[in-house]
Amino acid sequence: MAASGEIPQAWVDKVKELLGGEIFTKEQPGKWEGKAGGHVPVVSKNDDGTVTVKVPHVMKKGEKDEDDHWIEYVFVQDAEGNIVAMNKFTPTDAAAAISFQPEAGKTLTPFGYCNLHGMWKGEQF
Ligand SMILES: [Fe+2]
Repeated sequence: MAASGEIPQAWVDKVKELLGGEIFTKEQPGKWEGKAGGHVPVVSKNDDGTVTVKVPHVMKKGEKDEDDHWIEYVFVQDAEGNIVAMNKFTPTDAAAAISFQPEAGKTLTPFGYCNLHGMWKGEQF
């Protein structure tokens, strides 16, 4: 899990590029009607003040690479467009979730990127 300031620039550049494409939401799943449940990031606030953002998607390593299906990135963006928390996952990771300490007073938006079903945005928190 990369904290803000430690996030590799290559990851940031990649998701900024992906954010320039289509972004799906629960209300607007577009061509992925019916897929919101496994792709929209879910935010939960923990007792210690941290926040967990999880995408409740399968993490599947196929027999061939083209059969892989997983959440490659989970990240959180602030209102200025800065990425304040992020991790990159592989198909063999157990789950696509990040936990971090949010800065007080910030409006944040969670995102998850599926290798097959693209970029999904969750509700601001
Ligand atoms: Fe997917």
